[in-house]
Amino acid sequence: MRASDIPGDFDHVLYTEEQVASRIREVAAQIDADYAGREILMVGLLNGAVMTMADLCRAMTSHMSMDWMAVSSYGAGTKSSGVVRILKDLTKDIDGRDILIVEDIIDTGLTLSYLVQNLRSRNPNSIEVMAMFRKPEAVTCPLDVKYVGFDIPNEFVVGYGLDYADRYRNLTDVATLAPHVYKS
Ligand code: XMP
Ligand code: MG
Repeated sequence: MRASDIPGDFDHVLYTEEQVASRIREVAAQIDADYAGREILMVGLLNGAVMTMADLCRAMTSHMSMDWMAVSSYGAGTKSSGVVRILKDLTKDIDGRDILIVEDIIDTGLTLSYLVQNLRSRNPNSIEVMAMFRKPEAVTCPLDVKYVGFDIPNEFVVGYGLDYADRYRNLTDVATLAPHVYKS
């Protein structure tokens, strides 16, 4: 759905479906150039990165395979718990592989710092990160992120895989929520 389908739920749209699609194509081209001749193992973080993974890998021409992890960061609310737990681990061995972690959004950076450290200990050939969104003002755990879709202000956003209480992942635009949504 588009933000205009349920306008009352949103405060403002940060990026439209078209802007997201166009940025995805740019990042995909950058990744293809950087990994020329190599095969990438893309590791998506459930559930938020599902849309980014689906669109990014289809815009790429590199050979790739896909695996998924689930880690806990936030509960149903909008504040980080500060605790990272692996809820679902990889099914593939990453020894010697070129890993590209695909994440929906970097807020404090806590989740990814933990994850990169964890995956590094499994002896991959390389690890890079692609995050569709990043909030530079919120970062407390600085992290080398090679590919960023958009740097955004420090606001809670939904859409394109990002949720509030598991809703709005199917919004194709990226938007902030109207205050009444948090109260209901
Ligand atoms: P940290 O703080 O570890 O958080 O970088 C990353 C995770 O927090 C969630 N997150 C958000 N989810 N809208 C969301 O729907 C947001 O604005 C937002 N900011 C952080 C997200 O799950 C991400 O993986
Ligand atoms: Mg996430």
